[in-house]
This record gives sequence, C-alpha cells and structure tokens, in this order.
Amino acid sequence: MRIHVADHPLITHKLTVLRDATTPSPTFRALTEELVTLLAYEATRSVRVTPIDIVTPVTATTGVTIAEPRPLVVPILRAGLGMLEGMTKLLPSAEVGFLGMVRNEETLEPTTYAERLPDDLSSRQCFVLDPMLATGGSMAAAIEFLFRRGATDVTAICLLGAPEGVEALEKATEGRDVTLVLGALDEKLNEKGYIVPGLGDAGDRLYGAV
Ligand code: URA
Repeated sequence: MRIHVADHPLITHKLTVLRDATTPSPTFRALTEELVTLLAYEATRSVRVTPIDIVTPVTATTGVTIAEPRPLVVPILRAGLGMLEGMTKLLPSAEVGFLGMVRNEETLEPTTYAERLPDDLSSRQCFVLDPMLATGGSMAAAIEFLFRRGATDVTAICLLGAPEGVEALEKATEGRDVTLVLGALDEKLNEKGYIVPGLGDAGDRLYGAV
C-alpha cells in the first residue's frame, strides 16, 4: 500500500480548525469539503487520461481528458457523504457509488447494509471516502468489496488516520494496488476507538447526533 500523508500548511491549518471542539457544524462541513478538494489533488495524481485533439483560438494542439471508464467515487455512509462534494468538485466527470457499512454487534465485523455500485468494476479507478481511518475495519471491508467486483486500483481518502488503522489496512490489502491519502496521521486510538487527538465523531460533527 502506498501511503501519502499531506504536508501542507493550508491543510494543517484547516485540520486544526476542524479538530477544535468549538467549531460549529456549518463550518465543519465547509472545511471538510475544502480539505477533501486539497487531498483529492494528491489522490488523483495517477488518474488515467487519454489524449484528445483540440483547437485553441491560435492553433490545433493535443491535450488530455479523463479516460473511460470514468473514475468511481465511493463515500462510505454516513460520514463519507460529507466528503463527496469536495471530491466531485475536482473530478466532476466521476461516477458516484455508495456503500453503507455497519459493525455487526455480535461478530464485531463490519458488514455492508447498503450498496449502490456498478456490477462490474473492471479497470475502474475507485476513490473511497471516509473521514476517519480508526481501526481500519470499514475501509478494509469496503476496499475488499470493490476488488471482489473487479476493481484493480483503489485509493482511500481520509482526513485523519490512526497508526493502528494504517497497519490494519496495510495487512488487509497486501498484494493489492491500494493508495492511502491522509490529511494527517495522528497518535493513536483510545480505548473507545476514537482517534487521538482526532476530532471526535466525524458523522456527529457533520450532521449532528441522531
Ligand atoms: N470515527 C470517528 O468519527 N471518530 C473517531 O475518532 C474514530 C472513528
């Protein structure tokens, strides 16, 4: 697994405001969107393009356009939805699929409760969105789901990650073409499974506790 941890003062600044417990939901949502757009710039570095001929007001020339099949963006419900706008802003031609993952209270394994994805993901570049890479369980299950559908190339984008989650994802995706893009790599997970220092419950901070 390739890992890219953002190293840019604008990203660190925006993450600092996001982490602040006094930041209200509307600001949190707006900042999440901005951060994802910045991370998407890095995450799409290897997006496949194809040459096209165009004519400028001055001359004929060759440029590139996003290749077919179009990239697929997959937010993991619910918190990943808060990242969707920021991603599609940068990649408007992408298709969007959805995955709902929940932890089974008996087995503690993540299971899929909702899925809206193309049946065949062969030769699709997939971008999975989930703000917090905590234990890595949901992200690993989501990526496995995409590979079973034929995906060959998956990039996970998370605002924050814990070392425990990165390690788990690395093990779970061994031998697969997977890239992880993180806004920051935090210290650890606490006993309740929260990332430390983290930002709390990303879904609650985006949408309020329900
Ligand atoms: N999910 C969250 O929303 N926050 C954490 O800190 C860990 C998992």
